[in-house]
Amino acid sequence: MAEVVIVENAEAAGALVATEIVELIDRRQDAVLGLATGSTPLPVYQALRSRLAGRDVSQVRGFALDEYVGIDPSHPESYRSVITREVVEPLGLDPKRIHVPNGAEATIQHAGEDYDAAIAAAGGVDLQILGIGTDGHIGFNEPGSSFASRTRVKTLTEQTREDNARFFDSIDDVPMHCITQGLGTILEARHLVLLAFGEGKAEAVAGAVEGPLTALLPGSAIQLHPHATVVVDEAAASKLQLADYYRYTFANKPSWQGI
Ligand code: F6R
Repeated sequence: MAEVVIVENAEAAGALVATEIVELIDRRQDAVLGLATGSTPLPVYQALRSRLAGRDVSQVRGFALDEYVGIDPSHPESYRSVITREVVEPLGLDPKRIHVPNGAEATIQHAGEDYDAAIAAAGGVDLQILGIGTDGHIGFNEPGSSFASRTRVKTLTEQTREDNARFFDSIDDVPMHCITQGLGTILEARHLVLLAFGEGKAEAVAGAVEGPLTALLPGSAIQLHPHATVVVDEAAASKLQLADYYRYTFANKPSWQGI
């Protein structure tokens, strides 16, 4: 089962995950990071700003989880722009080493295969940061996604388009399709770190961690992974049946073990 760490707030989660990433980069200068967009990972990227300052990050590589199909890459809400703004520029990463799936319609037929090939050529993802949607999606693997799926085009659910409308002028501007790493692709990363904050995520988190393995809740795929860490605040943990056990386990964890 995933290790669940219940923290006080998003800032504490950001600090915890940033420490793990810095240790990874110290061990391996060309570490491959799996980058999520959306609001959830922002405290991690924020904490990394000061932690990585002065370190050599020129070799660090990264792969984003997903991108909207048909969006102009220069649109401020394309995931290419978001990753550039929130991750590449503030952390001083080399933009040539940071990849985002190509959502251009002209090449979309083979964009998924190309992306999986690029991840494989990089030797796979060392640490994959994940958020979770209120409907249980990870990446943009909406309910019904195969656990064996590869990077491909998906249709966003109405719920996800409503959730993401806050980033656009109106829901009509939220693209209908996306290209996302598949659940099978995500499960190949060596360490999964799923973060979630707020009561709105509590049900999805409980289903992902403690519910049955089901395509209805794609986040439950993390139960198949040998090294998955779930970092949540109290509100997002509020529907976990074994919350006390997770607290007890983490409080008694040897300090050398990391997450
Ligand atoms: C983003 C992604 C999505 C988000 C999820 C939660 O790259 O893959 O799975 O992590 O939609 O979004 P937020 O964090 O905005 O609540």
